[in-house]
Amino acid sequence: MLEGTLRHGLIGLLLMTPALAAPSEQRGKAFARANCARCHAIDRASNSPLKVAPPLRALHQRYPIESLGEALAEGINTGHADMPAFELSPDQIHDLLSYLKTLE
Ligand code: HEC
Repeated sequence: MLEGTLRHGLIGLLLMTPALAAPSEQRGKAFARANCARCHAIDRASNSPLKVAPPLRALHQRYPIESLGEALAEGINTGHADMPAFELSPDQIHDLLSYLKTLE
């Protein structure tokens, strides 16, 4: 009974997400939308709300995605006074990087 409800919920969720997107990418996108989007553009096309913040899709042009992961784990706070320091868990980093890879 409960299981049936859960399964229904899951199928509903899957139907709402863009075709074939992996769950970690979806979580990464949700994380970016919640934590980064007020300054950084997080999609493929728009400009950042905060002009000095590079669109997230441009980050891999500055850093290989993998080293970005290291920076995130250590807490990126060097050189950007306007940006709050974030502490991301390894799972969150994995999700976020999975999402960033879809923007390449
Ligand atoms: C309050 C605004 C703000 C938020 C929220 C924010 N950033 Fe930033 N971020 C900035 C600004 C401004 C810069 C550019 C700073 C610079 O170039 O000195 C930046 C730069 C960066 C850079 C590049 C650093 C570099 O040295 O080139 C990365 C990576 C980054 N942000 C990741 C993120 C991630 C991931 C999130 C969400 C977890 C996030 N930012 C949320 C404002 C923000």
